[in-house]
Amino acid sequence: MERTLVLLKPSTIERALVGEIVNRFEKKGLRIVGMKMMQLTDEILAQHYAHLVKKPFFPILKASMMKTPVIAMCLEGVDAIAVVRYITGYTNGRKADPGTIRGDYCMSNQQNIVHASDSPEAAVEELNRFFRPEEIFDMGDLNLDRLYAVDEL
Ligand code: TYD
Repeated sequence: MERTLVLLKPSTIERALVGEIVNRFEKKGLRIVGMKMMQLTDEILAQHYAHLVKKPFFPILKASMMKTPVIAMCLEGVDAIAVVRYITGYTNGRKADPGTIRGDYCMSNQQNIVHASDSPEAAVEELNRFFRPEEIFDMGDLNLDRLYAVDEL
């Protein structure tokens, strides 16, 4: 089982899409094991987007991520990191495949609804950045027999 970080970005909150996006992940069978609303700061965004701080679009990106609070989620499942990236779709919503979250819900490269960790290393680092250990919950074997075959766990 893996855990991964998803952020519902300000564009999701402004457009009242929170329920729809959470629903997509839940219906897929990813378990929500952590969830909270938080206002991002200069400091956390400089860490979170460290690979982009020198890009010309970083100031606009930062402002867009601070416009409203975000909702941080920890999702859990077998291969959850890759599955969540697949469901999320390509960065630019105009190029993302229909059926993906970005493909179905946005027209933007930046106002693209969700962030999702892109590797096991990033997932660990990002979950530590956005959640304290006690904010992530152990769901035990809840629903696992419905979601997976015994040899997949
Ligand atoms: P990146 O880590 O490249 O993509 P992803 O979110 O798919 O992992 O970029 C992080 C965010 O930065 C992206 O979701 C939106 C924003 N961004 C821009 O605003 N303009 C750009 O040209 C790129 C590449 C990203």
